[in-house]
Amino acid sequence: MDNQKIIELSNITVKYGEKVAISNINLDIEQGEFIGVIGPNGSGKTTLLKLILGLLKPASGRIKIFGKQGRLIGRLRSKIGYIPQNPEIDRYFPIKVIDVAMMGRYAKYGFFRNPGKEDKKIVIESLEKVGMKDYIFTPFGQLSSGQQQRVSVARVLAQQPEMFLLDEPTANIDMGTQDVIINLITEIHKTQNITTFYVAHEINLLTQYLDRIICLNQSIFKVGPPKEVLNEEVLRDLYKVNVTMFPHKGHYFFLVG
Ligand SMILES: Nc1ncnc2c1ncn2[C@@H]1O[C@H](COP(=O)(O)OP(=O)(O)O)[C@@H](O)[C@H]1O
Ligand SMILES: [Mg+2]
Repeated sequence: MDNQKIIELSNITVKYGEKVAISNINLDIEQGEFIGVIGPNGSGKTTLLKLILGLLKPASGRIKIFGKQGRLIGRLRSKIGYIPQNPEIDRYFPIKVIDVAMMGRYAKYGFFRNPGKEDKKIVIESLEKVGMKDYIFTPFGQLSSGQQQRVSVARVLAQQPEMFLLDEPTANIDMGTQDVIINLITEIHKTQNITTFYVAHEINLLTQYLDRIICLNQSIFKVGPPKEVLNEEVLRDLYKVNVTMFPHKGHYFFLVG
């Protein structure tokens, strides 16, 4: 059997009021693909994820997620683990680490069911995987941004979704934590074959794992396996900055300048 198409976008345009955020997007994603999305600020990366999540409706074009269209897309949200770019949890809101991770279980089953033993077990295992088990009763607001991001990863792990949408999960955190998060996500992708969208700027850490990379600048500028798509010229055109490519251990690394 052919691999199943899990996302089908044809000729999609998304607007905020009159402002076009993304346009003419044609993209088919197969079950299990690991997709990177890069592009300058304002190029529509977050918009693309919100469209897939059903938080935004296209102004025109057709979208199918898990084979469903239209209003049905909103009902699929429990199958999708989403880490937003700017999580809106108030630093002073008195919520503990374990409660944040438990939100993943609510996302899966809804608020109308009290979490049981099994939920708690899954949540604690998820916190253990991200190295935050010792902090379960710590107020979330007291953690560093890197620790908070580890907990966000635990939350989507606990959700046991069929797709991950990760919006710059390693922006503004230290290299060690970046490495932990990228390793976790690539490991889960590999072992569980979860379709994964990873919006990132740190392409060097990621490209070796990606099936395809999307270079987005309102429309899709390039898409394909990183080795075929990425070069100095493409990155210069995308980011409007000079980039130099260095081969290292069979992979390519890009530096500005
Ligand atoms: N809620 C909004 N209202 C109006 N314009 C928005 C909104 N969100 C994003 N935009 C605009 O849409 C474009 C794409 O934004 P976004 O998807 O956030 O880009 P990226 O994630 O690549 O930085 C930008 O020009 C941005 O200013
Ligand atoms: Mg964004």
